[in-house]
Amino acid sequence: MTRKGIVLAGGSGTRLHPVTLGLSKQLLPVYDKPMVYYPLSVLMLAGIREIAVITTPQDQDQFRRTLGDGSQWGISLTYIEQPSPDGLAQAYILAEDFLDGAASAMVLGDNIFFGHGLTDLMRAAPDAGGTVFGYRVADPQRYGVIDFDADGHVRAIVEKPDRPASSYAVTGLYFLDDTAPEKARAVCPSARGELEITSLLEIYLGAGTLRVETMGRGYAWLDTGTHASLLDAGNFVRTLTERQGQQIGCLEEIAFVNEWIDAATLRARAAKFAKNDYGKYIEDLLQSSR
Ligand code: TTP
Repeated sequence: MTRKGIVLAGGSGTRLHPVTLGLSKQLLPVYDKPMVYYPLSVLMLAGIREIAVITTPQDQDQFRRTLGDGSQWGISLTYIEQPSPDGLAQAYILAEDFLDGAASAMVLGDNIFFGHGLTDLMRAAPDAGGTVFGYRVADPQRYGVIDFDADGHVRAIVEKPDRPASSYAVTGLYFLDDTAPEKARAVCPSARGELEITSLLEIYLGAGTLRVETMGRGYAWLDTGTHASLLDAGNFVRTLTERQGQQIGCLEEIAFVNEWIDAATLRARAAKFAKNDYGKYIEDLLQSSR
């Protein structure tokens, strides 16, 4: 069965208050596009076309207005509400009907991934078991941290440890098999009252079915949950885009290269954004494909 995708874009965004008092964090701009475009682009690069977007009840309309039904990118978007931010693992319970027995890739709505080889790395994830990605960070205590044994095997994943066992954090991209919803239902809420993704991953680890792939130093993994990191991510996207003349997270480009949309659809998108560089970029794609 084909793998399906989940973008987890609920949460409360309290670290971005007052900006996020009236707006969803994942709809804030990261330079020239809404934040949610970037995680969505990751799933599309992984070849996934059926995607659920999980949002808070109050933000769902804005997501629908921003992303529509996905047909403009040759994908199908389903919207699911998370009534309250009860943790990342809850996504699998909420998405159980949508997944309908399929394996999935879930990406956090405020995570940005960039790097040569990302597509191949994701497409190599097997359907069975779980695959997560470790990334070296300067401040591991803010994340789920990987504890490796002497042979480099994963011994444990520890959520926000005071004394991190390594500098490797688990990124917000999870490839889990068809058993994820059932396993998520076995997770007990943590001390902070959330169904932790770490607890779900520990179930896979305990069953010996969790693979941890490392994203090397050529990758960028950015989260955008604080004022400073949001601005940094915007500057990162702007710097690379202007230097290379290539977009990061242009959904029209990915859809066209994947042959999910035709030239007429691409042309309509270019016309929609004709007044800015994003539209001009899409127009250039059309010209160069002739
Ligand atoms: P976090 O950044 O941990 O939480 P948050 O977005 O609520 O922000 P803050 O800490 O500032 O209050 O969440 C990571 C991602 O997961 C983010 O995209 C929001 C999403 N999320 C949900 O959709 N549901 C949840 O229950 C939680 C905890 C997070």
